[in-house]
Parts: sequence; C-alpha cells; structure tokens
Amino acid sequence: MTCIDLFDEALHIPAEFTHDLVSATIDTWKVFQHNTQQFRDRIDVRRGPSGEILRQLVINAYDFVYIDGAHDSYHVLEDSVLAFQVVKPGGLLLWDDYEWNVPGLSPASFQHPRPAIDAFLHIYAEKVALVHQGYQVCIQKRPEITF
Ligand SMILES: C[S@@+](CC[C@H](N)C(=O)[O-])C[C@H]1O[C@@H](n2cnc3c(N)ncnc32)[C@H](O)[C@@H]1O
Repeated sequence: MTCIDLFDEALHIPAEFTHDLVSATIDTWKVFQHNTQQFRDRIDVRRGPSGEILRQLVINAYDFVYIDGAHDSYHVLEDSVLAFQVVKPGGLLLWDDYEWNVPGLSPASFQHPRPAIDAFLHIYAEKVALVHQGYQVCIQKRPEITF
C-alpha cells in the first residue's frame, strides 16, 4: 500500500471536526505512525504533495486508490486525473466527501471537492463505470482501458 500525505506536524482541526467540539492541533505524522505501526512493513509512505508524488507512481499498477487529500476542486481534479492513470484496468477509484457539509460553503464552490468529481465523471464517462454515488463516490476503471 502506498500512502501519500503532507503529514503536517501542526494541523489545525476546527471544533466542528473534533469529537469533543474544541479545536485542536495535531501532529498528523506522529498520529499516522502510531496508527499504522503494526502494518509498517506493508506501507510505502510518501510524504509530500500528491500532485508531485502521484506522477512518480507506476501506471496501471494499483487495485484501489482512495482520494481524500486537499479538498478544493483544483487539487481534487488533479489528484483524480493522476490517480486514474495509476489504477489498474478493472480497478477502483474512491473519493471521500462528495457530500461534504461545511456551514457557509456551497457544494458548487471550487473550495469543495464536488465540482471536480462531477467534472471527472462527465469527462471520463466512457472509461469508467459508476459503482456508488453518495457521501463517497466510487468508480471502476473499465477493464479494457489501459491508458
Ligand atoms: C481530511 S484529511 C484525510 C486524511 C486521511 N485520508 C484520513 O481519513 O484520515 C486530508 C489530508 O490531506 C492532506 N493533504 C492536503 N493537501 C495535500 C496535498 N496537496 N498533497 C498531499 N496531501 C495533502 C492533509 O495533510 C490531510 O492529512
């Protein structure tokens, strides 16, 4: 498994996203290392921007790619196009937060993942099969698509 993240050492979590409703600052690198310690020998961790790292991965190599990084449409669109390349023919691509609900943020805003996912689904319609569309969206890369 390959995990890509910036792994911020001081990520600010607003109160609405923490369980105890107070804002928090967490070291995501330490939390990730702690949570995944028993799988360390099975994880290839790539620390850095997804737009750079996805370009370094092998094409048509991954059974499954999960996209849950930067949430603005510009990054989500770039992650989607690059992730599609590295998914195997017949493999799956899953986005989180298609129905992300943030007070004051319209789902139509380019600060939201949704416009990017919609654009990808529209443009890649012939190359993918829609598996699920809800809070998360899942597509299968059609088995005959090798590029
Ligand atoms: C909503 S969190 C999800 C993290 C993880 N998927 C999870 O469910 O715990 C979004 C993550 O995207 C990372 N991120 C944001 N922009 C990024 C970028 N350009 N490249 C790589 N990771 C990024 C952040 O560091 C953060 O850990």
